[in-house]
Amino acid sequence: MPSGQFWKTELYDNKLGFVSEYGKEVVELLSPAPGEKILDVGCGTGDLAYDISKTGATVIGMDFSAEMIEKARVKYPTIHFFTGNAEQFQLDETFDAVFSNAALHWMKNAKQVVENVWNVLNSGGRFVAEFGGKGNVNRIVKATTDVLDEDYAIDAEKLNPWFFPCISEYSHLLEQQGFRVTYAVLFDRPTKMEDGEEGLSHWLSGFANQFFANVSEEDKKLLYAKIAARVRNDLFHDDTWYVDYVRIRVKAIKP
Ligand code: BEZ
Repeated sequence: MPSGQFWKTELYDNKLGFVSEYGKEVVELLSPAPGEKILDVGCGTGDLAYDISKTGATVIGMDFSAEMIEKARVKYPTIHFFTGNAEQFQLDETFDAVFSNAALHWMKNAKQVVENVWNVLNSGGRFVAEFGGKGNVNRIVKATTDVLDEDYAIDAEKLNPWFFPCISEYSHLLEQQGFRVTYAVLFDRPTKMEDGEEGLSHWLSGFANQFFANVSEEDKKLLYAKIAARVRNDLFHDDTWYVDYVRIRVKAIKP
């Protein structure tokens, strides 16, 4: 995950726990088997690495954030976790599978990530991932960039840390690398936030802090309220915020 993002691990685990919950479906697609060696790229605080390990596979978790890795080690001391940058990493060992949930959209150099994944996979190995696809969190990004532009004359698109490709773009990257793409879907998944009115603030505070890096805490609250007002009609119903997630899910094999 990128250097500019500051991770609040308590908020991540307590209020944004849907990340790991939805990730269980991606673990199903991975279908880990006893004895396999699996690398979890962007493992966060380790919940899915732990789920994978329960199947009898050996998992190693990597994340760019030292805070995330520190917390993962405390939660799951029997699993090996290390800090690493998926856009740059090289390892001496190889794996039967590489898994990634809700992390690849933080890595703008996707071509390099795909090459690095390829390099650590055994022949016959699989890459299974889910992340944000084209259109992901569109309404929130638009409201955020508009408000920052109007109130602070900030060209916020430049601060946007995310890469949300369409299926053809990402499949093409995988195929160019030599992967056989056996599964690729893009789907809407409106995602329920916790805590009623507070839900959108949890999301902005947990995930979007690079947009607000130069804004005081006081102004941030005002901005969050303005953003909420702009997206409320589309994203708030039944006293609950639903973030406009769009996912890409892929499975690709290294021949
Ligand atoms: C996502 O999981 O799609 C996501 C999470 C945080 C920021 C942007 C997208």
